Amino acid sequence: MSVTSSPARLVVLVSGAGTNLQALLDACADPSYGARVVAVGADRDDIEGLARAERAGVPTFVRKVSQFTSREDWDRAMADTVAAFDPDLVVSAGFMKLAGAEFLARFPGRYVNTHPALLPAFPGMHGAADALEHGVKVAGATLFVVDPGVDTGPIIAQRAVPVEPEDDVESLHERIKVAEREMLVEAVGRIAREGLVVTGRKVRYGSAGK
Ligand code: GAR
Repeated sequence: MSVTSSPARLVVLVSGAGTNLQALLDACADPSYGARVVAVGADRDDIEGLARAERAGVPTFVRKVSQFTSREDWDRAMADTVAAFDPDLVVSAGFMKLAGAEFLARFPGRYVNTHPALLPAFPGMHGAADALEHGVKVAGATLFVVDPGVDTGPIIAQRAVPVEPEDDVESLHERIKVAEREMLVEAVGRIAREGLVVTGRKVRYGSAGK
């Protein structure tokens, strides 16, 4: 995306606790951050992520797959709803659904996802658990530009954390999430202020030609 003088418009998608969303909401309270959350979307009701948005006075929407006759219809409805908020960047922050072809086509290079593992290792729904099970000594989080694969897109930022001998999935995931929130806030702020250029698998902050 390119840079504008007004704050970048973020639509954040969530499915659960929304601590990454909260970190973005908190960062956006500072005008110098350069972004604001204009809407929060979810694929389910009654989650803390939506409550966080409501407390912050941010509009919310819910589109459940079960409300639609096909996954394609759900995907189109998500894309239409997100597009109505005119986002500069769409952030999947604990959103546990894969976007389809229509959604990706509507937000090319502008849909990013945070994942609790050091990709390309441990993609999928259980990044922290899979890393622990594999016995790695270093785990972490990755922010990437979403492509049609499962957690395969070009990497924007990564943060590493140690795996401790006494870790269970919860303790490891919590340690990852502390680093993940810092990574997300820093990277989204830089994207908002500087722009993002994706060339094949290579990603850099800035605008094309600079
Ligand atoms: C985060 O760790 C995020 O990376 C993960 O869900 C958590 C959401 O936490 N997402 C995935 O595993 C997607 N594959 P939060 O709701 O507290 O922000």
